[in-house]
Amino acid sequence: MSDVFMNTYHRLPVTFARGEGAWLWGVDGKKYLDFTAGIAVNCLGHNHPALVKAIADQAARLCHVSNYFQSDVTAAFAERLVAACAPAGMKRVFLANSGAEANEGACKIARKYSLKKYEPGRHRIVTLKGSFHGRTITTLSATGQEKFHKDFGPFTEGFLFVPSGDLDALDRALDANTTAGFLIEAVQGESGILPQEAAYIEAAAKFCAERDILLMFDEVQCGVGRTGAFLGCEAYGVKPDVVTLAKGLAGGVPVGAVLAGEKAAGVLEVGDHGSTFGGNPLAAAAGLVVLETVDNPAFLGDIKRKGDKFQDTLRSWKHPRIKGVRGRGLMIAADLDTEAWPVLEAAIAKAGGPHLGSKDPGLLMLSAGPNTLRFLPPYIISDGEIEQGLEILKGCL
Ligand SMILES: Cc1ncc(COP(=O)(O)O)c(C=O)c1O
Repeated sequence: MSDVFMNTYHRLPVTFARGEGAWLWGVDGKKYLDFTAGIAVNCLGHNHPALVKAIADQAARLCHVSNYFQSDVTAAFAERLVAACAPAGMKRVFLANSGAEANEGACKIARKYSLKKYEPGRHRIVTLKGSFHGRTITTLSATGQEKFHKDFGPFTEGFLFVPSGDLDALDRALDANTTAGFLIEAVQGESGILPQEAAYIEAAAKFCAERDILLMFDEVQCGVGRTGAFLGCEAYGVKPDVVTLAKGLAGGVPVGAVLAGEKAAGVLEVGDHGSTFGGNPLAAAAGLVVLETVDNPAFLGDIKRKGDKFQDTLRSWKHPRIKGVRGRGLMIAADLDTEAWPVLEAAIAKAGGPHLGSKDPGLLMLSAGPNTLRFLPPYIISDGEIEQGLEILKGCL
């Protein structure tokens, strides 16, 4: 591994050369089944023919134009995305490049919405303890986890964290005189695949509506079909004011999006916000393929079916090392009675290679907290591949 990188990641000792479907191959020829999808990014798997063709065709035509001009591909992508989010009441979109950038946009919308209607000072944004919203200074300020804050203050002011599930604390925090928005993950990803309780979301939506506070769902990890619905918040039947997306939205090409419903769709005006790369034609062409594939009831239903089967299989083992299994769709966690990291390493080390005289595959997984394994496989994974991967995991526990 090159030592010119800033030392920000604990990288595992495998260098990938290529991928196909739910499989990746290292430069040494070793083969791995991918239960990570690049942290919920490669939702159509690797080397997906329609995605590759769309990216190659678009690259040959036009990669980028400034947002000061128009792009038919970007417009088609934006229209298709708003249509996919219409069941949640979304009307308009701003295209960005990442989850953090999308959440920055959401915070700006909440603050300006409030400032246009109320006195200055009503700018607080409430988020949950244990949440994860990104690594920029403002999205770190929104992230309710001390461990990410260390060394980086001072932070953007006006964020308040409440314990997840505590309705009294939420009622107090969502003060109509001081609060502009409530930002929440429908299923918390980084802190261990924790779906919100329906009663909590319903009450939060009621508080927000009564007090004219924007209800904003961070769907960067759980959106774009991951839970078996296009948006994770659809499971609660509430209508958010703002939704943010990124990760899987263009299947591996960087893109992010802030969507707004009726209340907030007109808040940002000319000159208020911008992004050089945001939704450029290359990302838009890739995003269109993802939307055409994923925003389809049969495809979404299959994500849910495969996810349920994945969880059922894990539970059926009654394995003494597995203390609990939970998830929604293909967003699954297993709590262990031991550290997760050595299990991740053992699953990678299972990979044989032609030069080792073995073709046994390894398995790629993620952790979420010290004792939790996290599984975010590509949506195109087959039932047989799920079984194969879980057998590898069993051998590592
Ligand atoms: C829920 C959530 N929000 C925001 C982010 C930040 O996204 P990005 O890394 O694209 O900035 C992440 C990344 O893991 C996330 O899971």
